[in-house]
Amino acid sequence: MSRKSRKVPETICHKVDDSQKFFKNVKIFLLNAGIEKARCDIFRKQTERYGGVLVSNMEDLPGYIVVEDKMEAERMCRLLRIDQPPSDVNIVKSSWLSACIKQKQCVDIATHELDLSLFTRKRKKELDINDSGNEEEKDNTSEKNQEQKPARMWHSYKKPKVEEEEGVDPESDYAPSDGEDTVQGPSTSSTSSTSPEKLIAKGQWICTQSSKNVSGNLNEHITSKLEAMVKKYESTSDQWRAFGYKKAIQALRKYPKPITSWEEAKALPGVGARLADKIWEIAESGELRKLNEFNADEDIKVIELFTNVWGAGAHTARQWFQQGFKTLDDLRTKAKLTHQQKIGLNHYDDILDRMPRSEAAAIEQVVRMAAESLVTGVIVQCCGSYRRGKATCGDVDILVTHPDGKSHRGLFSKLLSRLKETGFLTDDLVSAEDNGSQKKYLGICRLPGENHRYRRIDIIVVPYDEYACALVYFTGSAHLNRSLRLLAKKSGMSLSEHSLNTGVIRKGNEKIFEGTPLPTPTEESVFKHLGVPYRPPEERDH
Ligand code: TTP
Ligand code: MG
Repeated sequence: MSRKSRKVPETICHKVDDSQKFFKNVKIFLLNAGIEKARCDIFRKQTERYGGVLVSNMEDLPGYIVVEDKMEAERMCRLLRIDQPPSDVNIVKSSWLSACIKQKQCVDIATHELDLSLFTRKRKKELDINDSGNEEEKDNTSEKNQEQKPARMWHSYKKPKVEEEEGVDPESDYAPSDGEDTVQGPSTSSTSSTSPEKLIAKGQWICTQSSKNVSGNLNEHITSKLEAMVKKYESTSDQWRAFGYKKAIQALRKYPKPITSWEEAKALPGVGARLADKIWEIAESGELRKLNEFNADEDIKVIELFTNVWGAGAHTARQWFQQGFKTLDDLRTKAKLTHQQKIGLNHYDDILDRMPRSEAAAIEQVVRMAAESLVTGVIVQCCGSYRRGKATCGDVDILVTHPDGKSHRGLFSKLLSRLKETGFLTDDLVSAEDNGSQKKYLGICRLPGENHRYRRIDIIVVPYDEYACALVYFTGSAHLNRSLRLLAKKSGMSLSEHSLNTGVIRKGNEKIFEGTPLPTPTEESVFKHLGVPYRPPEERDH
C-alpha cells in the first residue's frame, strides 16, 4: 500500500483530557527503522496525544525505546551506534505501544520487551576472549551483582587499538527521523553506493573539515568537565552516556564563541535538554554537581583507579572491586593478574601521565638510530598525537618502513632485539602482533640517562606499498579515521591501515567482495581518492 493512500484515523484527532493522559511525561524514543511510515505517524501522534514526550536524543532518556517487533538487539545497537543496550531504559517492541494505545493505559512491558539474551551471551563470550585473566573468579560476577549497578558489564575493551572497520557514523545525530539509511548506511552492494563527492556535498563530514578552530576551544572550561564525565561513564561501562557526552564535546570544541545561554547549549548538535542543563550549569557556576558527586563516590573512584591499569577493562576493574580490593596494593598482593596487568601496575603512574612532545621526539630518535644502524634508508616516523602536533602525548606510535619495498622484511625482530639489548625497551605488552603484512609491538620504553620515566610505545613495521594508508591510520585521530572509513564505505570503497579498496561489494554489513586496492603512494592520494581535501596532520586532531 502506498504511503500516501494511508490516512491517519480520525479518532486519533479527538482531544483527551488530562486524566486520560496515561503517558503523561513518559519519554519515548521511537526507532523507526522497519516500522511503516504511516504506523510511525500514528505512534507519534498518539504518544503525544496521551501526554507522552517523543525524544530524539538518548540524553533525554530514561524512558522507553520502541523498536520494530522483529528487531534484534544487535541490530538496534548498530542503528543507534551504541556498544550495548542501555541498562536504565525499557526497550520494547512496537507491539507494546500498540497495546497501550488500544487499551488506553500504560500496559506492562513484560511480554513486549526486546529479547537481549542472545546479545548478552554473545557479548559475554567476546568478553571472555578479550578480557581474560580472572577466569576462575568469573562466578563472582553474578547476575545479582550486575543488577546492583546501573551499567552492564559487557563492554570491556581497555584501549581498542584496531577498531572495527565499519565504525560508527560520527556525522549524523541519533535522531532516526530520516529513515534507516541515515542511521545505518548502505545495506546493499557497491552498485547502490554514491560517489564521495555527492556524499560530501550532502552532509557535514568531519573528515572534510579542519580540526583547527581559528580561535581555539572557547569552551574549554566546559569540555574539560564533560571529558571527566566521559571517563566516569566509561569506567562504569556506560558507553551510551559516554558517547552522548563525546558528541557534545566535539560540538562545543568547534563552537565559535563561549556558551552564554541554555538555549545556545540546547541548539548544539547532539545536545538534548538534560545535557544542555549540565553545560549550562558549568557555564554559569564553573561546577558540575554530578561530576562532584562522582568524584566523591568512593566506589567509582576505586573502579576508575582499576580501569586505568593497562590491560584491565571496565569489566575486570569491577570484578576486582567486587572481590573487595580497594587499592593498587591490594591488586599487587591479592589479585590474580595477567602479565600485562602486572606491567600496568608496575608503571601505573608513568603510563597514565602524558609526556611532553620533546620526550616523544627523543624516543623516536632512539628508534630511528637503531633502525638506521640495521638498514640504511629506513623511514622511522612518529605518528599519533605527536604527528598531529599535540603538546603532550599519551604514548609514542612509531611507524617503520623502507622505500625499497623489501628491506622492511625481517626488520621487526632485529629492531626489537637491538632496542632490548640497549635496555631501551623494558617490558613487552604484546611482543608481536601480525596484522596482514604489518607487524606491531606494544611495550614500555625508557630513555637512557637519569630521571627518565617509563613510557608506552607502539612500533609498527609496514611494507612500503601500505605506508600511506598506515600513516593516515596511525596519525589519526581515531575520530577522523572513523569518518574517513565511513565515507569510504558509503562510496563503495573500503579504507583500512593496509589499503584503500574500490569496488567493494557488501551485503548488509558483510563484505562479500574485498574490492581492488587503489594506488596510494602518498597520504594526499588517499584523501584525493576519497574526494576529501588534504589536511596536514595538525588539522586532523578531531
Ligand atoms: P593512540 O596512541 O591511542 O592515540 P593518539 O596518539 O591519537 O593519542 P595519545 O596521545 O593519547 O596516544 O592511537 C594512535 C592512532 O591510532 C590514533 O591517532 C588513531 C589510531 N587509532 C584509531 O584509529 N582507533 C582507535 O581506536 C585507536 C585506539 C587508535
Ligand atoms: Mg599515541
